[in-house]
Amino acid sequence: MVKLVILTAERCQIVNIITHFGCLTFCLENFEVLSLTDMIYVSRQEHFNAAHKLYNPNWSEEKNNEVFGPCANKNFHGHNFNLIVTVCGEPDPETGFVVDLKKLSDLMKDEVTEVLDHKNLNVDVPFMQGKMASTENLAIEIWKLLENRLSDITSFGKLYSVKLYETPRNFVEYFGPETAGP
Ligand code: NI
Repeated sequence: MVKLVILTAERCQIVNIITHFGCLTFCLENFEVLSLTDMIYVSRQEHFNAAHKLYNPNWSEEKNNEVFGPCANKNFHGHNFNLIVTVCGEPDPETGFVVDLKKLSDLMKDEVTEVLDHKNLNVDVPFMQGKMASTENLAIEIWKLLENRLSDITSFGKLYSVKLYETPRNFVEYFGPETAGP
């Protein structure tokens, strides 16, 4: 992945290239900046509780226990999940909002937290059937649920990331599908 980011107005003419290997900064002569945007990132946090277990049915019980440890407990275990959704865009000139956070909160509740709260991810949640009930896979499914509906509440913001905390110290963050390369 290579991103070209124009950092400054035309007087400075500095260009940043961000690669997997780090950030390269250099100057260009006679470089003309066409436009700068006021992109801003707006986030909302919601909460739900859910149970799951990590268990691969194609493996023996011994291998499941070896790989997943107590997470493979056959009678499941629970987590207090925190979900942080970030929307990016330029503010609507009429409201100053990228997205109305009350509407984003309602969307997260309708599409995600009220669907998942007090559920067993392995058993009760149709879109997790046939998948490993990991936090990674759950975050990807949450992205799909929200992306489909975000245009209902904002014409200025796009879904930027879904961050899902399984515990205060274990969390995943998903930025949407990327093109497989090279
Ligand atoms: Ni767990």
